[in-house]
Amino acid sequence: MKATVRAHPNIALVKYWGKRDDALILPHQSSLSLTLEPIHVTTTVEFGAPSDTVELHGHAAKGSERDRVLRLLDQVRAQAGRDLGPAKVVSRGDFPMAAGLASSAAGFAALAVAGRAAAGLPQDTRASSILARRGSGSACRSVQGGFCEWMRGEREDGEDSYAVQRFDAGHWADLRMVVAILDRGEKEVKSRDGMKNTVETSPYYPAWVKDAEAEVPRARELIAKKDLEALGELCERNAWRMHSTSLAADPPLCYLNSATLGLIQHLREQRKKGVPVWFTLDAGPNPVLLTNAAHEVAAEALARACGAVDVVRCVPGGDATLLTEH
Ligand code: DP6
Repeated sequence: MKATVRAHPNIALVKYWGKRDDALILPHQSSLSLTLEPIHVTTTVEFGAPSDTVELHGHAAKGSERDRVLRLLDQVRAQAGRDLGPAKVVSRGDFPMAAGLASSAAGFAALAVAGRAAAGLPQDTRASSILARRGSGSACRSVQGGFCEWMRGEREDGEDSYAVQRFDAGHWADLRMVVAILDRGEKEVKSRDGMKNTVETSPYYPAWVKDAEAEVPRARELIAKKDLEALGELCERNAWRMHSTSLAADPPLCYLNSATLGLIQHLREQRKKGVPVWFTLDAGPNPVLLTNAAHEVAAEALARACGAVDVVRCVPGGDATLLTEH
């Protein structure tokens, strides 16, 4: 009735931005990501507790945060088809400085896998990915390691909208992702609200959907060939297009700040000098740099020279892992 799971966050190389169904968390387009080690979240789920309690990163969760966790466990109860009693959830991220990146995707992936295991359900990556998606869309890509593709699906019930692993972590062991924390503050507009505003008001949104969908198979091909330069170019292009469609929303959404732009400019200059480094950017000011093992130290130095207060050097990560089961 109790299980502990460790999961890693993922960084999207082709982003998910916008839902066609807010309740089931179904995206308008497919996306593709890389799971990152060593950042991780460890989550324990125990059914049969005296009452429902949710502890996230050392604090009792409240309001919508708590509701999202408990709603996901209600799905587990429905799948188990029996009364499992109240649940106790304890979740902790081991890299507080990268909390923004680590918390939601890794947390919901760990919760989905631990919830199913604690309920005695068999290990099933597809079922766990669908469950994780219902907590937070990008979490469906953290159930498995390596390069995972979230297929948008067509069905209204979302049963064909889940992530599959295209290449495992060992496929491209030389790839490095360097997380540059320029700003530790909470983002002003959460992804959930930002993407909703973009879908509803950005005149560029239909073009984003079409373009992102077409980029996924191209990215897959470049990963197969381990073509860092072409993949780097694709990632930057996709990040710029996600931010462009958001900038065109009403009210406009600008996630970049001057430090972000400074780093991007510096990175381009370094690239002209032969340093193989590219960036991607989620809904916040902190870029993630793509490079290879030979240049990860140079990428870290570049980030620090541009004002990064913390830097985490990551390698391709593995699957969400069951640590203990009681
Ligand atoms: C920019 O998965 O956090 O990081 O589904 O509303 O929980 P919800 O959103 P979330 O959005 C992630 C957006 C992104 C791009 C990506 O990871 O693909």
